[in-house]
Amino acid sequence: MKKCISQNELKSVYVEDGTAKKIFAADYNKSDVLYEALNTARVEDAGVDIPKLLAVSVENGQWSITSEYIDGITLTELISKHPEKAAVYIRKMAEYQVEFQKKTNPLLLKLKDKLVRQINDLKELDSSIKYELLTRLNTMPKHTKLCHGDYCPDNIIVHTDDDANITDITAVDWVHATQGNASADIANTYLMLKLQYGDSFEGIDGSIADLYMSDFCEITGTNQTYVTGWLPIVAAARMTKNKAGEKELLEHWVNIVDFQ
Ligand SMILES: Nc1ncnc2c1ncn2[C@@H]1O[C@H](COP(=O)(O)OP(=O)(O)OP(=O)(O)O)[C@@H](O)[C@H]1O
Ligand SMILES: [Mg+2]
Repeated sequence: MKKCISQNELKSVYVEDGTAKKIFAADYNKSDVLYEALNTARVEDAGVDIPKLLAVSVENGQWSITSEYIDGITLTELISKHPEKAAVYIRKMAEYQVEFQKKTNPLLLKLKDKLVRQINDLKELDSSIKYELLTRLNTMPKHTKLCHGDYCPDNIIVHTDDDANITDITAVDWVHATQGNASADIANTYLMLKLQYGDSFEGIDGSIADLYMSDFCEITGTNQTYVTGWLPIVAAARMTKNKAGEKELLEHWVNIVDFQ
């Protein structure tokens, strides 16, 4: 039987016979659907264990992408069920990201090129700030690590044991995946965690976002200032999504470029 597990005005995900079928709205751009499918296949080719892409099809003018269904719940759901274990879950989230960042695929779009395009496209940003951001971006080390681009608890699917400990973890929604600097992807997730959970979380000393960043830095031996240096750049790039609820926080992070 077909069951809807996620829905918004642009796409819905249905589960049927062990597959997850993402059906796009009739007016959804065809090349965006094909790009999502190709990009996901390239992540699969990079050797990451993600739900396998099975089919791309069109029915009554609506495009769809079918992949293996992964049984489990999202990390967002798990954190709301067991907030007392949030710190352990965030650690797992960071560890999994560090694991897939070891992979790469030269055919993926380069993160730096994407960021340059996004910053140049921003109409609401002062040209001097754009210039500063692009100059900073130019000085950042160029890597080719697999970056998810939208790595947040809603896009992480987990399986747990009877004690609510994570036994399996995987990520979906690889449409924004690129090859680039791992710390940029961490900075992007940091912003998403700030937007989702704010500045404090019960039982955690500080915010979920800060905990996540320090976990990453500890696991990889990265200096935290190296990650925070990316914040103004990724915040500006994220402004291109034009999400009303994000504007204030993103502007705050973009403007930090002024005094660093
Ligand atoms: N292969 C899968 N197996 C299990 N669940 C899935 C699978 N694909 C998607 N889902 C579920 O459906 C939800 C929505 O899917 P997905 O994240 O791909 O699209 P979306 O969030 O609507 O896209 P976007 O973030 O681009 O708007 C996921 O958060 C996850 O809960
Ligand atoms: Mg998603």
